[in-house]
Amino acid sequence: MEAEDYPAAADAFLRGSMAIGKLAKVTENEKLREKRLTLAKNYMQVGKELKKGIIPVKSKPKEYKRSKEVHGSTIGTEPGEEEGFEKYVEQNLIATSRMTWENIGGLNSVKETIKESVVLSIIEEKPEAIKPWKGILLFGPPGTGKTLLAAATAGSLEATFFNVKVGQILSKYFGESSKLVSALYSVGRKKSPSIVFLDEFDSIALSRSGEVAESSRRVLSTLLSELDGLQDKDSGRYVLTMAATNTPWDIDSAVLSRFPKRIHIPLPDKEACLEIIRIHTIKEGLKLDEQILDEIAVRCTENLFAGRDIATLCNDAIWNMVRSENPALGSLADKPVDAIQEYRLGVRELTAGDFEKSFESVRSAVKARDVARYDKWAEEYGSG
Ligand SMILES: Nc1ncnc2c1ncn2[C@@H]1O[C@H](COP(=O)(O)OP(=O)(O)O)[C@@H](O)[C@H]1O
Ligand SMILES: [Mg+2]
Repeated sequence: MEAEDYPAAADAFLRGSMAIGKLAKVTENEKLREKRLTLAKNYMQVGKELKKGIIPVKSKPKEYKRSKEVHGSTIGTEPGEEEGFEKYVEQNLIATSRMTWENIGGLNSVKETIKESVVLSIIEEKPEAIKPWKGILLFGPPGTGKTLLAAATAGSLEATFFNVKVGQILSKYFGESSKLVSALYSVGRKKSPSIVFLDEFDSIALSRSGEVAESSRRVLSTLLSELDGLQDKDSGRYVLTMAATNTPWDIDSAVLSRFPKRIHIPLPDKEACLEIIRIHTIKEGLKLDEQILDEIAVRCTENLFAGRDIATLCNDAIWNMVRSENPALGSLADKPVDAIQEYRLGVRELTAGDFEKSFESVRSAVKARDVARYDKWAEEYGSG
């Protein structure tokens, strides 16, 4: 197809739409079917417009200019400076998320709460009394799935996912960090729906000395005003901030008040452990006996394993299986690449023995008294 051959493009879109529509009809997974139908509709729309001679134009460059002018004249920054920060955000902080809720074991009520909050925020017609959450705080031991949850929220909404490590922004951009935060939300609104994920959120409150404290204070006040800001209702722009922390007690109360939804992400119970083990073994195509699975799940809870520890355990056990089935694996390294490529890896069902050695090497990062501390904080400050 020639560049700018719009009639041909229109045909391609229309044919694509029909094909995806057909595929949707035979798709059993409801969510996937929904997605495909939407895609088919979009293609149809684009195809029809192209036929009519309407060329879809990206409106983004225009918006860029406008924001530059507004900020440039009111705040008096160098022309182009805002744009620079926004470019940085676009190039470095946006991630695409293909994570789905099914990739997360356990946490069923948490998933429901998040889904409800998100849906409620997006519904346009609602009584005044129902105020959407602009911020959700996820707290709990490390490795329990906080990042996964934020990614799944973005993935399921097909939202733009801004993955931001707060500590990194603070240390790298020092005096300029607060401009970066403004740029973050500005880009977030433009690319809405957006999920702004602030990881290691406590690091804002933790740095309390000298110069860092000053810049950190500025970042905080910028962030709080973004969180307080009125949602631009008419534009249908939706930016949800999700913050995560392993040390919720380090966050000061002014910040906490902006996060009315504070959700405890605890260590997995036995049922959740079962699901997480399945996700990291069986769902990846390996076999594992149900009885053994059950025993491993029990041991995971006894060892206070987080999801990350379980993932490590499974990975390690898989390696043990691979090594035992392919004793000469290392010696392959001396062979030419095509010989290596053709090697058929021996694989068998996972056994209790594969996991036995792994249990010796994986250690939980938390102690029982830590767990109690999270529970206590959740009781006092948590919600949902
Ligand atoms: N609930 C879970 N289900 C499946 N895998 C999990 C779960 N929790 C953690 N994991 C595994 O541990 C890794 C780290 O989880 P992550 O979401 O980054 O933890 P956190 O952000 O709470 O520290 C994930 O990439 C995943 O492999
Ligand atoms: Mg994380």
